[in-house]
Amino acid sequence: MTEFDRRIDRRGTYSAKWDKYQGRDVLPFWLADMDFVAPQFLLDALAARVGHGILGYTRTPEPLVSAFCEWLQRNYGWQVAEEWLVWIPGVVPGLNLAAMAAAEPGGAVLIPTPIYHPFLSAPGNAGQRLIKAPMQRDGRRWVMDWDLMEAAADRSTRLLMIANPQNPTGRVFAAAELEALANFAERRDLLICADEIHCSILLERQARHIPIASLHPSVAERSISLYASTKAYNVPGLSCAVAVIPNADLRRRFRQASRDLTPFIGPLAYAASTAAFNDQSGWLERLLDYLRGNHRLVRDAAGKRMTPVEGTYLAWLDVRDLGLQDPAAHFEAHGVGLSDGADFAGPGFLRFNFGCPQALLKEGLARLAAGVAAAL
Ligand SMILES: Cc1ncc(COP(=O)(O)O)c(C=O)c1O
Repeated sequence: MTEFDRRIDRRGTYSAKWDKYQGRDVLPFWLADMDFVAPQFLLDALAARVGHGILGYTRTPEPLVSAFCEWLQRNYGWQVAEEWLVWIPGVVPGLNLAAMAAAEPGGAVLIPTPIYHPFLSAPGNAGQRLIKAPMQRDGRRWVMDWDLMEAAADRSTRLLMIANPQNPTGRVFAAAELEALANFAERRDLLICADEIHCSILLERQARHIPIASLHPSVAERSISLYASTKAYNVPGLSCAVAVIPNADLRRRFRQASRDLTPFIGPLAYAASTAAFNDQSGWLERLLDYLRGNHRLVRDAAGKRMTPVEGTYLAWLDVRDLGLQDPAAHFEAHGVGLSDGADFAGPGFLRFNFGCPQALLKEGLARLAAGVAAAL
């Protein structure tokens, strides 16, 4: 029994993940938060901040800025200047602000798909056209389809948006793949927005996260890189994120887009993020080991319907062979709540969040198997 085996009833907390199926016998494996308590040191930091008693509008704490810069340096060997950082209340706002900062009249945004669904709305929200470039399955991995990427990008394309680690395919792009993306962006003179929120959640032992902007100063100059500690430390309800934007003009446009639009980041979100970026307690390594065990269970159950998850706690299941009209509804009817791939521009797929205690996961996998058997 580990700390991650504790089953905690989240009903009554207005959990978005659990309340979707309120009153129904459906176990939720959809929305990307985990059913684990956050580490004690982080809860202590929150309690200390609450203990002060006044939770007013708060400016970015200097200890957070230095903790984040040291975290980037310690983990990825990337040295960034404090003035490159723009703190924002969430990575999703960051995706939208990046699209707004890059926007030009008649401009377009290129996005390899499938992808976390807010990416798909960001270009339209910024008055830009969305160009989807479906990735392809190459044996056991999802990879860029370079012929498609080359053909899809046109003269109006201003911005390339990626997630790395990739939600929903679980890919952690290797150095060569990131270099190819960076070369492509340089050749086409595209800005890059890289959402790296899952970078601490690496399950495959050989996988190494490389911030695309750290490849070369010329790549950094055209990049907006988005980070948050909220996923790995399971406090995504405490929205706090940061955009690293080395180019001063691009940074100015990003800041301009956010003015009077995004709210202050809350003092509790700042307290949690500061504690998380300073963490070297070993909690994260224990979490990753537990998630690796969960990943094995999902892989054993899903077989060839899934590709290995290199990073994230999200499995991307290919259920096209089942010929279901509405795969998500079919599995809900069998008691498992999954994200519908169609929302990620991947119809015929389902996304399975395995960030939960193993006992719960096993119940979910048994229901998944029953759903598959019923469809065959
Ligand atoms: C790739 C990716 N980006 C962003 C987010 C959400 O970030 P935030 O809650 O900071 O807006 C998620 C949540 O699942 C995600 O998977």
